[in-house]
Amino acid sequence: MNIQPIIDELKKIFQDDYTGHDIHHTLRVYNLSKYIASNENIDFTEKIEYSALFHDVDDWKLFDHENYKNLNYLCKKFNISKDIQIWLVENIGKISFKGNFNSKNLPIEIQIVQDADRLDAIGAIGIARALTYGGYHKRILFDPKCEPKNFNSFEEYKNNQSTTINHFYEKLLKIKDNLNTNTAKQIAEKRHNLMVQFLIEFKKEWFLEFN
Ligand code: ADP
Ligand code: NI
Repeated sequence: MNIQPIIDELKKIFQDDYTGHDIHHTLRVYNLSKYIASNENIDFTEKIEYSALFHDVDDWKLFDHENYKNLNYLCKKFNISKDIQIWLVENIGKISFKGNFNSKNLPIEIQIVQDADRLDAIGAIGIARALTYGGYHKRILFDPKCEPKNFNSFEEYKNNQSTTINHFYEKLLKIKDNLNTNTAKQIAEKRHNLMVQFLIEFKKEWFLEFN
């Protein structure tokens, strides 16, 4: 599939993003999905390609419009078959974390893209993206008195006022044990350990521990 015209269109959709969801995030998710599929001996089908490319085009964190406006626009613009469009509308929303990791019985295509998306939220790039997101949304970086929370619903997750460092405990450190494919689980180990190390050093510096 020639994805260049789609990428050009996605660049326009994400051109004003300063939350860590720019076109490069989408491209990393696309390339990681391709790698995971190949390593798992699964064909890199159109469903995986479109799910990866379009996974954030209507994300609730980024856009304040009615459901799947951008997805429907892109499907029309690129003459994507009605069958795939219906499948995407039904499944693409399942990729996103909405306060819990309870998603069950996901189609394999969605499992792969979800793993790729979650891998891009951890490790060095994950740390950078969390700090970028927190700054953009004017969230407090760290407050020792503010404990990490457990969210019981999407509403609670959406409206929470936790700190950016707490986001690591509330979501990012849990990713490693909530991946679908063995390939992603292997990639996650090193990225997870880097975040653990980062948090240890962050707190040492904060509390003036010099060793
Ligand atoms: P998902 O749909 O699973 O949230 P996305 O790619 O849309 O995946 O967004 C995840 C990115 O947004 C991650 O890099 C994550 O660190 C960042 N993010 C989301 N909420 C917060 C938060 N409260 N504080 C810091 N970063 C956040
Ligand atoms: Ni994403």
